[in-house]
Amino acid sequence: MDLPRSYSIREDSHRVLNPIDTAKLALLGEVIGLRAGMSMLDLCCGKGEALATWARDHGIGGVGVDISTVSLAVARERVAEFGVADRVSFVHGDASTYVSAEPVDVAACIGATWIGDGVDGTVALLRQSLKPGGLMLIGEPFWRDEVPDAETARACHANSPNEWDTLPDLVNRFGRLGYDLVEMVLASEDSWDRYRAAQWLNLRRFLDANPGDELAPELRAELDRSPLEYVRFQRRLLGWGVFALMER
Ligand SMILES: C[S@@+](CC[C@H](N)C(=O)[O-])C[C@H]1O[C@@H](n2cnc3c(N)ncnc32)[C@H](O)[C@@H]1O
Repeated sequence: MDLPRSYSIREDSHRVLNPIDTAKLALLGEVIGLRAGMSMLDLCCGKGEALATWARDHGIGGVGVDISTVSLAVARERVAEFGVADRVSFVHGDASTYVSAEPVDVAACIGATWIGDGVDGTVALLRQSLKPGGLMLIGEPFWRDEVPDAETARACHANSPNEWDTLPDLVNRFGRLGYDLVEMVLASEDSWDRYRAAQWLNLRRFLDANPGDELAPELRAELDRSPLEYVRFQRRLLGWGVFALMER
């Protein structure tokens, strides 16, 4: 079980595999009030940047789960670099059924709610690992404006306009699920650029270095298409945020 190689190529230079940048990730760690000794489970942790930097900056410990062997290798290097490897570990595996052996203070799924078939199922999954009174972190896209048609939705990597909520609908959903929204850090157009535009340079460098690679035609087509699609549709329409929730 592993993530397709195209993801690792596209996100080669990224530390955060989502449209919040490292400054926003640091801000999130501050505003949710992390304290030394707290435990965190991060489902679909990617390169483990949240766990690694929050362990370094706030003294937390925890476990990250991901299917990408490439990302987990980077994550393990990062925690060693920060001297927090005794407190943070990583598990290679499917996060969609992962429940922590010991309940944690913070249970997160930042940008991968497909593991629970959407927000509702991911909240139900994370809840099983959370201490009473603990904090849940959900990273999720939302529409910033009305989506005119299915074609525009597809250009934003959604199967249909219904795939994501608007921000008010998403906040309403958290309430319906029985949770208070207690903090949030949202992506900006600038932080989206750090996520998406950085992918184009990664693609171009890969194509220049590996013209005969089997993925080259597919990635060449993506680089031809992606910047214009992004500025025409995604940059204006797509929002993204990490939402901190506490059960009512
Ligand atoms: C959008 S990235 C987010 C990574 C990380 N949370 C971050 O913010 O940097 C989604 C991650 O989910 C992982 N992933 C996808 N499906 C998974 C699954 N079923 N189980 C575990 N990890 C999965 C991918 O390997 C990828 O690292």
